[in-house]
Amino acid sequence: MIGFTGDRSVKTDLLTMLLNMHDYNHQNGTHRPLFEIEDVHFKQFIDKGFYSHAYFDMPRVKPSLREIVKNPAFLVLPQVIQAHLENCFPSLVIVHAESPIFTIRECHLFVPESETHTRTYVLMFGKAHHPIAHVLIAHVLKRNLLRLASIVVEQDTDILGKLYANTPQHIKLNNEVGMDWVRRNFESFPAVVEPNLSR
Ligand SMILES: [Fe+2]
Repeated sequence: MIGFTGDRSVKTDLLTMLLNMHDYNHQNGTHRPLFEIEDVHFKQFIDKGFYSHAYFDMPRVKPSLREIVKNPAFLVLPQVIQAHLENCFPSLVIVHAESPIFTIRECHLFVPESETHTRTYVLMFGKAHHPIAHVLIAHVLKRNLLRLASIVVEQDTDILGKLYANTPQHIKLNNEVGMDWVRRNFESFPAVVEPNLSR
């Protein structure tokens, strides 16, 4: 266990928060400055009812030495982030992060508090594949990784309410398959709708 962070009560309803978390385009907008993400290449969405997996690549601009010094967690980020999100509707999104030296799981949890407020927090787990990586996580990267996750939550909190607020959809992008998954499950809950395999 690396720790927890980003514990916030956000002034938004559960559906809006889930749509934001499953909008794979927003990494390129909301979190672009943080991770220097150039583009989002959507790869695959595996739909298993209330459970799903999303895979996409995010090529990054190379961080400057100054940025690395400011936040050494950038050292962990590869040039192309190969994102894998494991989704359990409606309360959990697990971000899988793999590197040759360690594995990280960032768990985003969502708890509806009222019609207008949703609580979110992040639990982070890490496993080192090398003794030096273990020392790195325990002493150097722990705080930085948590800080990075906390900034992500802050950016999402900021954008929520400004976006998605009953905005009619005009264009459907391939990357919106996650948002469609959220809408479908939200409407059918607690009944599971069989995934549409013809898509
Ligand atoms: Fe986000």
